[in-house]
Amino acid sequence: MLCVRAPGRVNLIGEHTDYNDGYVLPVAISLETRVYAQPRTDALCHIYSETLDEQHVLNLADLPPEQLPDGFIRYVAGVAAMLQQHAGRTLTGVDATICSGLPLGAGLSSSAALEAAFAVLWDALDDLRLERLTLAQLCQQAEHRYAGVHCGLMDQAASLLGQAGRALFLDTRTHAMQHVPLPPDWAIVVADTGKPRALAESDYNLRRAQCEQAVVALQGVLGESVVALRDVSPEQGALYLPLVEEPARRRARHVVGENARVLAFLTALRHADTAQVRALMLASHASLRDDYEVSCAELDAMVEACLQAGAIGARMTGAGFGGACVALVERAHLERFLTDAERRYRARAAYEPRFYACDAAAGASLCPMET
Ligand code: GLA
Repeated sequence: MLCVRAPGRVNLIGEHTDYNDGYVLPVAISLETRVYAQPRTDALCHIYSETLDEQHVLNLADLPPEQLPDGFIRYVAGVAAMLQQHAGRTLTGVDATICSGLPLGAGLSSSAALEAAFAVLWDALDDLRLERLTLAQLCQQAEHRYAGVHCGLMDQAASLLGQAGRALFLDTRTHAMQHVPLPPDWAIVVADTGKPRALAESDYNLRRAQCEQAVVALQGVLGESVVALRDVSPEQGALYLPLVEEPARRRARHVVGENARVLAFLTALRHADTAQVRALMLASHASLRDDYEVSCAELDAMVEACLQAGAIGARMTGAGFGGACVALVERAHLERFLTDAERRYRARAAYEPRFYACDAAAGASLCPMET
């Protein structure tokens, strides 16, 4: 029997930048998914989700076609298909049970954690010896092809490459990365609004398409050197974005500003500069709300509640359209913060919130089995 754990993630800053070749700064968190697996001698997989109480059968020698309907099995099938394509052979069948300690649909990348867990499982079982970055890219492909979400690399990279106590700075174009220590007296709080994400997939793909429209329009003035919004500086943005049609103009303005904010945030984090961290998180949230239009009343209410309860900074995290906020909080004030933020949110929103004080966790790994 093997056991694999794979963490969810929150993103400190750098939202909707990863499919624009930009920068992200996620943290793998101590909420995780576990998979317990017994290898089989054939290519069948019996996969049971304890969380959903659902069982599925997959045949690795005859995987279903791409674009499976909603449901956890599409992520497992997708990872198996991408690993098999990469390795050029059929993987080992497993009887597996999934236990998720991650709230589903809260924007904490439960799907990426599931993909990462199965990627690490088969990497070990079939002795594939793939680099973590390669596993992350294959998981991302699985999400594109099997779930139809044209996501960037952030979630899978965080779940596979995170380090305890550190955030992951990733340049999604060059794949350069740095593991940045978090100030030890800051806690990461995930504040789930309780509002499920609605229409997330189609809206997400639409935002991506609007960014691509902006790139085409900017190429008209700046030339082919603009391959992605990453190539547009804030100064160029101020000059040339007014030439781009709405709503692509506002979408691009968010991405250009957000990339600059990630770089500024890195410096602020290194100096534990609370004022700057707060200003950057607030600017990120406002830009996601007003220009990118992926926030909602509950996310705005939660950010407000967290700030009034004394957070260093707070913003929506993940794709948006519902889900969770991330707040950074002085550990010394954590208990008071949690009570106060919950009370303030409940006074403003009808959904049932949940707060999780998280540590920055290590990326997915095999875990020793309890006997
Ligand atoms: C989702 C995607 C990521 C990223 C975020 C927004 O979590 O899976 O790739 O684009 O949204 O930053």
